[in-house]
Amino acid sequence: MKKKLILSLVIGISILYSGASFAHKGATGIVKERMDLFSKSEKDIKALFAAIKNSDMEKISIYGQSLADWAEVMPDYFPEGSNVGVSDASDKIWEDFDGFKQAAAEFQAASISVVEAAKLSNIEAIMAAASSVGKSCKSCHTKFKK
Ligand code: HEC
Repeated sequence: MKKKLILSLVIGISILYSGASFAHKGATGIVKERMDLFSKSEKDIKALFAAIKNSDMEKISIYGQSLADWAEVMPDYFPEGSNVGVSDASDKIWEDFDGFKQAAAEFQAASISVVEAAKLSNIEAIMAAASSVGKSCKSCHTKFKK
């Protein structure tokens, strides 16, 4: 059961993000900075699922925290007028910046839940929270990414 769930999570995540590499070719300035941070978050979530597979509480905490830290500052990387060049950011971000911040806050809350569940070594809660993290990535992309 546990293995099956993790497998489906990992497959879901890799399908979601395959093809994202090199998407940021030619980006500059703040757009490049946020793309690099999104790429890092993609590595972090993959490393998080690998850590879950190994029941490695320390690493689960590290990657969960790294994602939460990124969620906290993410809206700062979307200043008005930064929808330029090769950016895949949708105009909807600035039409509904509160909604965008809310989506980042959901991502942050889910990531913090991962860290908290890791403190309790509660693998079921960790998997549920990690799955919410994955959903929060997808849900924000659906709304706010081209
Ligand atoms: C609150 C909204 C939001 C959340 C949450 C979010 N993303 Fe994104 N993501 C975006 C937007 C907007 C872009 C497009 C940025 C741009 O091109 O300027 C993006 C771009 C990306 C990219 C492409 C980067 C590139 O080099 O072009 C990857 C990879 C990515 N996100 C992965 C993730 C992962 C993994 C998660 C969850 C752990 C996540 N994102 C959560 C909004 C979000």
